[in-house]
Amino acid sequence: MTALQPGIQPDRTVAVVGAGTMGQGIAQVALLAGHQVLLYDAAEGCAERAVRAVTGRLDRLVAKGRMRSAERDAAAGRLCPVRSLAQLAGAGLVIEAIVEQLPVKQKLFAELEAVVGQDCVLATNTSSLSVTAIGGALRHPGRFLGLHFFNPAPLLPLVEVVRGFATGEETAERARATMAAWGKTPVRCADTPGFVVNRIARPFYAEAFRVYEERGADPATIDAVLRECGGFAMGPFELTDLIGQDVNEAVTRSVYEAFSQDRKFTPSLAQRRLVEAGLLGRKSGRGWYEHGEGTGADAV
Ligand code: NAI
Repeated sequence: MTALQPGIQPDRTVAVVGAGTMGQGIAQVALLAGHQVLLYDAAEGCAERAVRAVTGRLDRLVAKGRMRSAERDAAAGRLCPVRSLAQLAGAGLVIEAIVEQLPVKQKLFAELEAVVGQDCVLATNTSSLSVTAIGGALRHPGRFLGLHFFNPAPLLPLVEVVRGFATGEETAERARATMAAWGKTPVRCADTPGFVVNRIARPFYAEAFRVYEERGADPATIDAVLRECGGFAMGPFELTDLIGQDVNEAVTRSVYEAFSQDRKFTPSLAQRRLVEAGLLGRKSGRGWYEHGEGTGADAV
């Protein structure tokens, strides 16, 4: 039996790379668990904007009486945007939430490995890429794994703890213990395409988009049917507007390719057109539905 591993202690710094929808949410979760959190994004000004978005959400928690203002001040003081990966050198855990493209993630982790200490756990929030393949870029892939949060990360408890082929048992157990200490519900799973949730959810989106493409019903009707009669918290159209059409489509493509273009995972043409038009959902102000400007960050 492997001895139980302690999680990453709150006195260790957590770094989040990629300050978009998921990076912001994950940073908030790590902050509220007591860590100092460094936020890095390759896009100019993005980490600073993300810090403002996260502190704005903490303000709203205070306004709703769900957080004391002293706690808010302490948490905000622990969140810091950084402008280079070199500044992440002291981190005990780095969680990556950048664009869902294998070569981009591999390049980032190769750069990160040259910066962080040997005991630093490296994690990807990929929804659908092979954890083993991303870790293939590392000289020491034993300390690398998938930590797949769900959107919005501060609200949804599930985290899939994904062990790639080369992930060490100690790393997986440390990460699982850390997620439990953060108040999450970690579930260990293997590195199969889409892991558990995203694989099972693909046909849910695909069939809904096909009903729309065949003019069976419009998005609002399909969403209402699934929400009000099907027992789902959100319908597939509103949910993909929250997730981001680009992100959701990339996940479908990746699962489709991983299963040798199995027809049941065929990407939707209507969704492709949305992505081509830049209609990405809440984060761009419009997707299947009209949203206000910048509602992606504030919606959660
Ligand atoms: P997003 O598009 O909102 O944010 C991605 C951020 O990464 C952007 O700010 C971009 O500037 C930055 N970025 C891109 N390349 C970079 C690089 N090389 N170095 C540093 N920063 C870089 O994307 P989102 O939705 O936050 O997704 C991020 C990851 O999380 C993806 O792997 C996605 O599959 C996964 N994910 C997304 C979920 C969702 O509901 N949106 C849910 C769970 C996982």
